[in-house]
Amino acid sequence: MKIRQIHPVFVGEVSDIDITRPLSPAEVAAVDAGMNEHAVLVFHDQKLTDEQQMAFTVNFGVLEDARGGNITKPEERRLDVGMNDVSNLDKEGRPLDRESRQRWFNVGNMLWHSDSSFRVIPAKWSLLSARVVNPVGGNTEYADMRAAYDALDAGTKTLIDDLVCEHSLMYSRGLLGMHDYSEEERAMFRPVRQRLVRTHPVTGRKSLYLSSHAGAIVGMPMADARILLRDLTEHATQPQFVYAHRWHVGDFVMWDNRQVMHRVRRYDESQPRDMRRTTVAGDAPTTAQVEVA
Ligand SMILES: [Fe+2]
Repeated sequence: MKIRQIHPVFVGEVSDIDITRPLSPAEVAAVDAGMNEHAVLVFHDQKLTDEQQMAFTVNFGVLEDARGGNITKPEERRLDVGMNDVSNLDKEGRPLDRESRQRWFNVGNMLWHSDSSFRVIPAKWSLLSARVVNPVGGNTEYADMRAAYDALDAGTKTLIDDLVCEHSLMYSRGLLGMHDYSEEERAMFRPVRQRLVRTHPVTGRKSLYLSSHAGAIVGMPMADARILLRDLTEHATQPQFVYAHRWHVGDFVMWDNRQVMHRVRRYDESQPRDMRRTTVAGDAPTTAQVEVA
């Protein structure tokens, strides 16, 4: 297996490995080391089934429980438990109705975010395979939050180093004008606390932990918090920190949500885009939670 860095600050392109079959311990260790170093790994020509994708994923930890991350009801699901459906398709495989609430919710993936930052224990890695590629647009962009942190001035680092944010799917979807939720959804999407700066458990590198799910900072007036988060996000998504992935069928990209943000760009939603994600669960909260009565 070989890894070639394809962006000045992050992203490795992996070759000479077939991830559709079981990996040797040496290959697992090489992928793990590559992820710690590059934060995003890109593979080509990997025609994975769902079973093979899940088998590859569990080399690196436990599959995250997808519940609580969407408004899709169990009977509306297209894929098996263990797979995150990030396509634009309904259960019958047709593009979702433009007006459907499910599609509106999915549009939130076009905002910069880190997967599952709205969970008490946020996701470690996400792994995405391209099954059907949309004819227009639909690139996924990644931003290196380590390089973005490193490039901050000393005063900003001091200001933010110990700040704690509140993350919720209602904050990110609120930015898109989606404010109506059932009582059940409100309970499911209750804000959770995350450190604004986190330290990678293996490399010790610090990174900005930003996400469109972040909508408040503990102890700071809401308006100031929103401006600070917006400024930091603008800083962190400057071109020198961003890699845009143009998908081909069989591409497989995995990323470390603790070190990067990502977003999907707009595409032709009348045509299918079948992308399937698996998620490696994180192992600890980034900060203590406060029980809200
Ligand atoms: Fe995502």
